[in-house]
Amino acid sequence: MYRNFAIVPRIIFGRGSLNQLGDVLKEKRVTDGGYMVFVIDDVFTDKPLEGRLPMEGKDLLLRVNVADEPKTTYIDALVAQIRAYSDVTPDGIIGLGGGSTLDIAKAVSLMLNNPGSSADYQGWDIIQNRAVYHVAVPTIAGTGAEISRTAILTGPDKKLGINSDYTLFDQIMLDPDLLAGVPKEQWFYTGMDCYIHDVESLNGTFINQFSKSYGEKSIDLCREVFLGENDSAQGDKLMMASYFGGMSIAYSQVGACHALSYGLSYVLGTHHGIGCCITFDYLDEIYPAGVKEFRQMMDKHEISLPRNLTKGMDDASLDLMVTTALNLVPLWENCLGSDWKNIMTRERTLELFKRM
Ligand SMILES: NC(=O)c1ccc[n+]([C@@H]2O[C@H](COP(=O)([O-])OP(=O)(O)OC[C@H]3O[C@@H](n4cnc5c(N)ncnc54)[C@H](O)[C@@H]3O)[C@@H](O)[C@H]2O)c1
Ligand SMILES: [Fe+2]
Repeated sequence: MYRNFAIVPRIIFGRGSLNQLGDVLKEKRVTDGGYMVFVIDDVFTDKPLEGRLPMEGKDLLLRVNVADEPKTTYIDALVAQIRAYSDVTPDGIIGLGGGSTLDIAKAVSLMLNNPGSSADYQGWDIIQNRAVYHVAVPTIAGTGAEISRTAILTGPDKKLGINSDYTLFDQIMLDPDLLAGVPKEQWFYTGMDCYIHDVESLNGTFINQFSKSYGEKSIDLCREVFLGENDSAQGDKLMMASYFGGMSIAYSQVGACHALSYGLSYVLGTHHGIGCCITFDYLDEIYPAGVKEFRQMMDKHEISLPRNLTKGMDDASLDLMVTTALNLVPLWENCLGSDWKNIMTRERTLELFKRM
């Protein structure tokens, strides 16, 4: 059975393209007395980006904090805030920020049209009603959240995305100018998320020509950005690498690094990009060439990763980490094949976590 998957239907790419956001939204302002909600990372509070938003009439500016990666409780609170603001459902949600903010925008736009808590929809294709029109404007590149069909949330009992065709953005706006100002270490961690997507996709058992075509281009762009000379097109390249990396995993899967990083993240709250970097550095046996090249990138950019994260951790927490990681069956199947359970045993997984 081949998957018949949906993709983002509308894309604008180019420096300064944010200036067209007002025109894009104009035709979506369909409700009399309606409004748009701009969901923006609060790192931009009172920064020039806020002043450039094409806000009109009753539009709402919703600043969100991403110090913690998005939780279902946070999504539910934001949805309640929008409902308290107006009885009318907004005409659109525009997310401006990194993967965390984009996932918040996706989840909020879904939950405005679906009853209950966002925690009820963590899983695959549980969502019944289409989302409110939603737009992504990334301000950091690498996760591929701009084109994926998931909004990753930490819920009461699991970290799992709301995966559905309705989750996909209706419009994305890729303006490399917006990447200016990303702190260097964060730039590296989020960029490596993309590099690792490519390595895991290209070296997985699910690989096919579709995913290979996107993954190879994406990894080449990552090499230019992280190992090449610094050039003025770096931001353009990284934005396209992120998009292509996301397209690659859309028709394959990620692998061991992502599975293990979910364990770290669920128990310790480690953020996605840095968590993937920490984990990848221990996976020479699985991805020897990828890990070698990753270390060259770390050296070139003088990145040093935190160590001893699990030192002194109690057995119950370690056990939860192992369980969280091993629950991600498709990721292991992609990485190690159908016999994965005999290869990545609980003991081996525990050993890997203990070394981190
Ligand atoms: N939906 C998906 O397909 C998908 C895929 C991978 C990761 N994710 C999610 O994405 C999140 C990670 O996203 P991320 O790595 O893009 O980072 P992020 O959104 O968590 O942001 C990281 C930091 O960078 C700051 N930042 C962002 N843009 C900036 C800018 N232009 N200038 C200055 N600071 C800026 C943020 O305020 C934050 O402090 C995680 O929550 C992860 O679960 C989602
Ligand atoms: Fe990732």
